[in-house]
Amino acid sequence: MANSIGWIGLGRMGEAMVRHLTQAGHGVSVWNRTRSKAEPLEGSGATIAGSKQELAGCEIVFTMVSTTDDLKQVLFGEGGLVAGSRQPKVVVDSSSISQEGSAEIRRQLEAMGVGYLCAPVSGNAKVAKAGKLLIVASGPRMLYEKAEPYLQAMARKVMWVGEGELARVWKIAHNTMFGVVIQNLCEITVLAEKAGIPRHVFLESINDSVLGSMYTKYKTPTLTNLSFEQVTFTPKLLLKDMDLGLAAARAYGVAMPAAAATRESVARMVGHGHDDIDFAVLLLETAKDAGLELKSENVKMSDGLES
Ligand SMILES: NC(=O)c1ccc[n+]([C@@H]2O[C@H](COP(=O)([O-])OP(=O)(O)OC[C@H]3O[C@@H](n4cnc5c(N)ncnc54)[C@H](OP(=O)(O)O)[C@@H]3O)[C@@H](O)[C@H]2O)c1
Repeated sequence: MANSIGWIGLGRMGEAMVRHLTQAGHGVSVWNRTRSKAEPLEGSGATIAGSKQELAGCEIVFTMVSTTDDLKQVLFGEGGLVAGSRQPKVVVDSSSISQEGSAEIRRQLEAMGVGYLCAPVSGNAKVAKAGKLLIVASGPRMLYEKAEPYLQAMARKVMWVGEGELARVWKIAHNTMFGVVIQNLCEITVLAEKAGIPRHVFLESINDSVLGSMYTKYKTPTLTNLSFEQVTFTPKLLLKDMDLGLAAARAYGVAMPAAAATRESVARMVGHGHDDIDFAVLLLETAKDAGLELKSENVKMSDGLES
Protein backbone atom coordinates (compact mmCIF):
# COMPACT_ATOMS: atom_id res chain seq x y z
CA MET A 1 0.00 0.00 0.00
CA ALA A 2 1.22 3.51 -0.71
CA ASN A 3 -0.20 4.68 2.63
CA SER A 4 1.18 3.34 5.88
CA ILE A 5 -2.08 4.08 7.70
CA GLY A 6 -5.27 2.12 7.11
CA TRP A 7 -8.79 2.76 8.40
CA ILE A 8 -11.81 0.46 8.69
CA GLY A 9 -15.24 1.88 9.60
CA LEU A 10 -16.50 5.20 8.26
CA GLY A 11 -19.67 5.69 10.27
CA ARG A 12 -20.51 8.93 12.06
CA MET A 13 -17.34 8.77 14.15
CA GLY A 14 -14.86 7.14 11.78
CA GLU A 15 -15.48 9.55 8.92
CA ALA A 16 -14.94 12.61 11.12
CA MET A 17 -11.77 11.15 12.63
CA VAL A 18 -10.21 10.22 9.28
CA ARG A 19 -10.70 13.78 8.06
CA HIS A 20 -8.41 15.04 10.82
CA LEU A 21 -5.73 12.54 9.85
CA THR A 22 -5.82 13.63 6.23
CA GLN A 23 -5.93 17.32 7.21
CA ALA A 24 -2.77 16.71 9.26
CA GLY A 25 -1.13 15.49 6.05
CA HIS A 26 -1.33 11.74 6.63
CA GLY A 27 -2.25 9.61 3.64
CA VAL A 28 -4.88 7.07 4.73
CA SER A 29 -6.21 4.00 2.94
CA VAL A 30 -9.83 3.52 3.96
CA TRP A 31 -12.36 0.70 3.74
CA ASN A 32 -16.03 0.75 4.66
CA ARG A 33 -18.61 -2.01 4.27
CA THR A 34 -20.93 0.48 2.57
CA ARG A 35 -18.55 1.89 -0.02
CA SER A 36 -20.62 5.01 -0.73
CA LYS A 37 -19.71 6.37 2.72
CA ALA A 38 -16.02 6.28 1.78
CA GLU A 39 -16.43 8.13 -1.50
CA PRO A 40 -16.68 11.70 -0.08
CA LEU A 41 -13.22 11.19 1.46
CA GLU A 42 -11.53 10.51 -1.85
CA GLY A 43 -9.42 13.44 -2.94
CA SER A 44 -8.90 14.67 0.60
CA GLY A 45 -5.81 12.52 1.12
CA ALA A 46 -7.68 9.25 1.49
CA THR A 47 -7.58 6.32 -0.91
CA ILE A 48 -10.40 3.80 -1.00
CA ALA A 49 -9.22 0.21 -0.59
CA GLY A 50 -11.08 -2.48 -2.53
CA SER A 51 -10.99 -4.90 0.40
CA LYS A 52 -10.01 -5.11 4.06
CA GLN A 53 -7.05 -7.33 3.17
CA GLU A 54 -5.63 -4.62 0.93
CA LEU A 55 -4.99 -2.74 4.19
CA ALA A 56 -2.90 -5.60 5.60
CA GLY A 57 0.18 -4.00 4.04
CA CYS A 58 -0.25 -0.86 6.20
CA GLU A 59 1.88 -0.36 9.26
CA ILE A 60 -1.04 0.74 11.47
CA VAL A 61 -4.71 0.06 10.84
CA PHE A 62 -7.34 1.93 12.85
CA THR A 63 -10.79 0.43 13.34
CA MET A 64 -14.04 2.18 14.33
CA VAL A 65 -17.01 -0.18 13.99
CA SER A 66 -20.09 -0.83 16.16
CA THR A 67 -19.77 -3.84 18.47
CA THR A 68 -17.31 -6.53 19.64
CA ASP A 69 -18.74 -8.99 17.10
CA ASP A 70 -18.38 -6.45 14.29
CA LEU A 71 -14.74 -5.88 15.20
CA LYS A 72 -14.09 -9.65 15.26
CA GLN A 73 -15.75 -9.90 11.87
CA VAL A 74 -13.69 -7.16 10.22
CA LEU A 75 -10.47 -8.60 11.67
CA PHE A 76 -10.89 -12.38 11.58
CA GLY A 77 -14.02 -13.07 9.50
CA GLU A 78 -14.12 -13.95 5.82
CA GLY A 79 -11.85 -11.53 3.96
CA GLY A 80 -10.90 -10.02 7.35
CA LEU A 81 -7.93 -7.70 7.81
CA VAL A 82 -5.68 -10.35 9.35
CA ALA A 83 -7.32 -13.41 7.79
CA GLY A 84 -5.04 -13.42 4.72
CA SER A 85 -1.34 -14.04 4.22
CA ARG A 86 -0.18 -10.56 5.33
CA GLN A 87 -0.86 -8.64 8.51
CA PRO A 88 -0.36 -5.02 9.56
CA LYS A 89 2.12 -4.35 12.40
CA VAL A 90 -0.46 -2.74 14.67
CA VAL A 91 -4.26 -2.54 15.03
CA VAL A 92 -5.63 0.43 16.97
CA ASP A 93 -9.31 0.07 17.82
CA SER A 94 -11.54 2.97 18.89
CA SER A 95 -14.93 1.18 18.91
CA SER A 96 -16.75 0.93 22.27
CA ILE A 97 -16.50 -2.80 22.99
CA SER A 98 -16.39 -5.12 26.01
CA GLN A 99 -13.27 -5.77 28.05
CA GLU A 100 -13.59 -9.54 27.55
CA GLY A 101 -14.09 -9.23 23.79
CA SER A 102 -11.12 -6.90 23.58
CA ALA A 103 -8.91 -9.32 25.56
CA GLU A 104 -9.89 -12.15 23.23
CA ILE A 105 -9.04 -10.02 20.20
CA ARG A 106 -5.69 -9.10 21.81
CA ARG A 107 -4.83 -12.78 22.36
CA GLN A 108 -5.59 -13.63 18.74
CA LEU A 109 -3.76 -10.64 17.27
CA GLU A 110 -0.69 -11.00 19.48
CA ALA A 111 -0.50 -14.72 18.64
CA MET A 112 -0.16 -13.61 14.99
CA GLY A 113 2.52 -11.08 15.89
CA VAL A 114 0.18 -8.10 15.43
CA GLY A 115 0.34 -5.38 18.10
CA TYR A 116 -2.96 -4.15 19.54
CA LEU A 117 -3.88 -0.88 21.18
CA CYS A 118 -7.29 0.03 22.58
CA ALA A 119 -8.11 3.69 21.95
CA PRO A 120 -11.75 4.44 22.78
CA VAL A 121 -12.97 8.01 22.60
CA SER A 122 -15.09 10.51 24.50
CA GLY A 123 -17.21 12.78 22.29
CA ASN A 124 -19.80 12.42 19.55
CA ALA A 125 -19.41 12.92 15.79
CA LYS A 126 -19.77 16.69 16.09
CA VAL A 127 -17.06 16.74 18.78
CA ALA A 128 -14.94 14.52 16.53
CA LYS A 129 -15.51 16.88 13.60
CA ALA A 130 -14.44 19.83 15.75
CA GLY A 131 -11.23 17.95 16.68
CA LYS A 132 -12.28 17.99 20.36
CA LEU A 133 -12.31 14.27 21.16
CA LEU A 134 -10.59 12.83 24.19
CA ILE A 135 -8.85 9.56 23.29
CA VAL A 136 -7.88 7.22 26.13
CA ALA A 137 -5.59 4.36 25.20
CA SER A 138 -4.28 1.15 26.79
CA GLY A 139 -1.93 -1.59 25.67
CA PRO A 140 1.86 -1.76 25.36
CA ARG A 141 3.33 1.69 26.09
CA MET A 142 5.65 1.37 23.06
CA LEU A 143 2.66 0.92 20.77
CA TYR A 144 0.97 3.92 22.34
CA GLU A 145 4.02 6.04 21.58
CA LYS A 146 3.97 4.83 17.97
CA ALA A 147 0.27 5.65 17.54
CA GLU A 148 0.27 8.86 19.59
CA PRO A 149 1.04 11.35 16.77
CA TYR A 150 -1.92 10.00 14.78
CA LEU A 151 -4.20 9.99 17.82
CA GLN A 152 -3.10 13.56 18.61
CA ALA A 153 -4.13 14.61 15.09
CA MET A 154 -7.70 13.46 15.81
CA ALA A 155 -8.13 14.74 19.36
CA ARG A 156 -8.03 17.61 21.82
CA LYS A 157 -6.31 15.36 24.35
CA VAL A 158 -4.79 11.89 24.30
CA MET A 159 -4.04 9.78 27.39
CA TRP A 160 -2.57 6.36 28.17
CA VAL A 161 -4.15 4.66 31.20
CA GLY A 162 -2.09 1.46 31.36
CA GLU A 163 -1.65 -2.01 29.91
CA GLY A 164 -4.16 -4.44 28.44
CA GLU A 165 -7.85 -3.58 28.31
CA LEU A 166 -7.89 -0.79 30.93
CA ALA A 167 -9.07 1.77 28.37
CA ARG A 168 -12.14 -0.43 27.77
CA VAL A 169 -12.97 -0.23 31.47
CA TRP A 170 -12.49 3.55 31.30
CA LYS A 171 -14.85 3.82 28.33
CA ILE A 172 -17.46 1.56 29.91
CA ALA A 173 -17.42 3.67 33.08
CA HIS A 174 -17.56 6.87 31.00
CA ASN A 175 -20.54 5.73 28.96
CA THR A 176 -22.39 4.48 32.01
CA MET A 177 -22.23 8.05 33.30
CA PHE A 178 -23.25 9.27 29.82
CA GLY A 179 -26.49 7.26 30.17
CA VAL A 180 -27.15 8.14 33.80
CA VAL A 181 -26.64 11.88 33.14
CA ILE A 182 -29.06 12.01 30.18
CA GLN A 183 -31.60 10.01 32.19
CA ASN A 184 -31.44 12.44 35.09
CA LEU A 185 -31.24 15.51 32.84
CA CYS A 186 -34.48 14.41 31.12
CA GLU A 187 -36.18 13.72 34.47
CA ILE A 188 -35.33 17.10 36.01
CA THR A 189 -36.08 19.00 32.78
CA VAL A 190 -39.57 17.46 32.65
CA LEU A 191 -40.04 18.21 36.35
CA ALA A 192 -39.05 21.86 35.86
CA GLU A 193 -41.24 22.26 32.77
CA LYS A 194 -44.28 20.64 34.35
CA ALA A 195 -43.86 23.05 37.26
CA GLY A 196 -43.70 25.99 34.83
CA ILE A 197 -40.04 26.75 33.94
CA PRO A 198 -39.43 26.94 30.15
CA ARG A 199 -37.02 24.20 29.04
CA HIS A 200 -34.39 26.49 27.54
CA VAL A 201 -34.35 28.64 30.70
CA PHE A 202 -33.98 25.62 32.96
CA LEU A 203 -31.23 24.05 30.81
CA GLU A 204 -29.35 27.33 30.58
CA SER A 205 -29.40 27.57 34.37
CA ILE A 206 -28.08 24.01 34.77
CA ASN A 207 -25.35 24.68 32.20
CA ASP A 208 -24.27 27.71 34.20
CA SER A 209 -24.37 25.90 37.54
CA VAL A 210 -21.63 23.72 39.03
CA LEU A 211 -23.43 20.76 37.42
CA GLY A 212 -23.19 22.01 33.84
CA SER A 213 -20.74 20.25 31.50
CA MET A 214 -19.69 20.14 27.85
CA TYR A 215 -22.22 17.28 27.59
CA THR A 216 -25.22 19.11 29.12
CA LYS A 217 -24.35 22.12 26.93
CA TYR A 218 -24.24 20.27 23.65
CA LYS A 219 -27.47 18.39 24.38
CA THR A 220 -29.29 21.64 25.28
CA PRO A 221 -30.31 22.74 21.72
CA THR A 222 -31.59 19.21 20.98
CA LEU A 223 -33.61 19.05 24.19
CA THR A 224 -34.97 22.57 23.71
CA ASN A 225 -35.94 22.25 20.06
CA LEU A 226 -36.68 18.50 20.05
CA SER A 227 -34.34 18.07 17.07
CA PHE A 228 -33.78 14.36 17.58
CA GLU A 229 -33.41 13.68 13.86
CA GLN A 230 -29.83 15.02 14.08
CA VAL A 231 -28.42 11.73 15.35
CA THR A 232 -25.28 11.80 17.48
CA PHE A 233 -25.74 8.40 19.10
CA THR A 234 -28.60 5.94 18.80
CA PRO A 235 -30.72 4.43 21.61
CA LYS A 236 -29.47 0.95 20.58
CA LEU A 237 -25.80 1.94 20.94
CA LEU A 238 -26.56 3.47 24.35
CA LEU A 239 -28.30 0.24 25.44
CA LYS A 240 -25.23 -1.72 24.36
CA ASP A 241 -23.06 0.54 26.51
CA MET A 242 -25.34 0.35 29.58
CA ASP A 243 -25.21 -3.45 29.26
CA LEU A 244 -21.41 -3.31 29.07
CA GLY A 245 -21.38 -1.14 32.20
CA LEU A 246 -23.59 -3.52 34.17
CA ALA A 247 -21.62 -6.56 32.99
CA ALA A 248 -18.41 -4.90 34.23
CA ALA A 249 -20.15 -4.04 37.52
CA ARG A 250 -21.04 -7.72 37.98
CA ALA A 251 -17.53 -8.84 37.05
CA TYR A 252 -15.90 -6.52 39.60
CA GLY A 253 -18.61 -6.85 42.27
CA VAL A 254 -19.72 -3.22 42.21
CA ALA A 255 -23.35 -2.24 42.87
CA MET A 256 -24.56 0.39 40.37
CA PRO A 257 -28.23 1.13 41.18
CA ALA A 258 -28.42 4.35 39.12
CA ALA A 259 -26.96 2.59 36.07
CA ALA A 260 -29.35 -0.36 36.50
CA ALA A 261 -32.43 1.91 36.54
CA THR A 262 -31.11 3.84 33.53
CA ARG A 263 -30.51 0.61 31.59
CA GLU A 264 -34.18 -0.35 31.98
CA SER A 265 -35.32 3.10 30.89
CA VAL A 266 -33.09 2.95 27.79
CA ALA A 267 -34.30 -0.60 27.02
CA ARG A 268 -37.91 0.65 27.16
CA MET A 269 -37.05 3.47 24.72
CA VAL A 270 -35.46 0.93 22.33
CA GLY A 271 -38.49 -1.36 22.78
CA HIS A 272 -40.75 1.49 21.70
CA GLY A 273 -39.03 1.36 18.32
CA HIS A 274 -36.86 4.46 18.61
CA ASP A 275 -33.87 3.94 16.34
CA ASP A 276 -32.12 6.04 13.71
CA ILE A 277 -32.93 8.90 16.05
CA ASP A 278 -30.87 10.66 18.70
CA PHE A 279 -30.89 8.99 22.13
CA ALA A 280 -31.98 12.33 23.67
CA VAL A 281 -35.47 11.32 22.48
CA LEU A 282 -35.53 9.89 26.02
CA LEU A 283 -36.89 13.34 26.93
CA LEU A 284 -40.13 12.62 25.05
CA GLU A 285 -40.52 9.25 26.76
CA THR A 286 -39.95 10.83 30.18
CA ALA A 287 -42.46 13.59 29.44
CA LYS A 288 -45.05 11.05 28.27
CA ASP A 289 -44.71 9.20 31.58
CA ALA A 290 -45.43 12.50 33.32
CA GLY A 291 -48.48 13.20 31.15
CA LEU A 292 -46.74 16.18 29.55
CA GLU A 293 -46.82 16.89 25.81
CA LEU A 294 -43.66 18.72 24.73
CA LYS A 295 -43.36 21.25 21.91
CA SER A 296 -40.22 22.62 20.31
CA GLU A 297 -39.34 25.98 21.87
CA ASN A 298 -37.66 27.09 18.62
CA VAL A 299 -34.87 28.92 20.41
CA LYS A 300 -31.62 29.52 18.54
CA MET A 301 -28.80 28.49 20.83
CA SER A 302 -25.18 27.38 20.76
CA ASP A 303 -24.10 23.86 21.63
CA GLY A 304 -20.65 25.19 22.51
CA LEU A 305 -18.99 23.15 19.73
CA GLU A 306 -18.69 25.78 16.99
CA SER A 307 -15.09 26.10 15.91
N1 LIG B 1 -21.66 8.28 17.89
C1 LIG B 1 -21.12 8.60 19.04
O1 LIG B 1 -21.47 9.62 19.66
C2 LIG B 1 -20.02 7.77 19.62
C3 LIG B 1 -19.17 8.34 20.55
C4 LIG B 1 -18.10 7.59 21.07
C5 LIG B 1 -17.96 6.26 20.69
N2 LIG B 1 -18.85 5.71 19.82
C6 LIG B 1 -18.63 4.29 19.46
O2 LIG B 1 -17.94 4.31 18.24
C7 LIG B 1 -18.33 3.18 17.44
C8 LIG B 1 -18.86 3.70 16.10
O3 LIG B 1 -19.98 4.55 16.36
P1 LIG B 1 -20.68 5.40 15.19
O4 LIG B 1 -21.60 6.35 15.87
O5 LIG B 1 -19.66 5.88 14.22
O6 LIG B 1 -21.55 4.23 14.54
P2 LIG B 1 -22.17 4.16 13.07
O7 LIG B 1 -22.36 5.53 12.51
O8 LIG B 1 -23.34 3.26 13.21
O9 LIG B 1 -21.01 3.46 12.21
C9 LIG B 1 -20.65 2.13 12.42
C10 LIG B 1 -19.55 1.77 11.45
O10 LIG B 1 -19.18 0.41 11.64
C11 LIG B 1 -19.33 -0.30 10.40
N3 LIG B 1 -19.73 -1.68 10.71
C12 LIG B 1 -20.60 -2.09 11.66
N4 LIG B 1 -20.69 -3.42 11.65
C13 LIG B 1 -19.87 -3.85 10.68
C14 LIG B 1 -19.52 -5.14 10.21
N5 LIG B 1 -20.05 -6.26 10.74
N6 LIG B 1 -18.64 -5.23 9.20
C15 LIG B 1 -18.09 -4.11 8.66
N7 LIG B 1 -18.37 -2.87 9.06
C16 LIG B 1 -19.25 -2.75 10.08
C17 LIG B 1 -20.40 0.45 9.66
O11 LIG B 1 -20.35 0.15 8.29
P3 LIG B 1 -21.59 0.56 7.32
O12 LIG B 1 -21.36 2.00 6.98
O13 LIG B 1 -21.47 -0.35 6.18
O14 LIG B 1 -22.85 0.34 8.13
C18 LIG B 1 -19.98 1.89 9.97
O15 LIG B 1 -18.85 2.26 9.22
C19 LIG B 1 -19.36 2.42 18.29
O16 LIG B 1 -18.71 1.38 18.99
C20 LIG B 1 -19.89 3.47 19.22
O17 LIG B 1 -20.41 2.90 20.42
C21 LIG B 1 -19.84 6.43 19.23
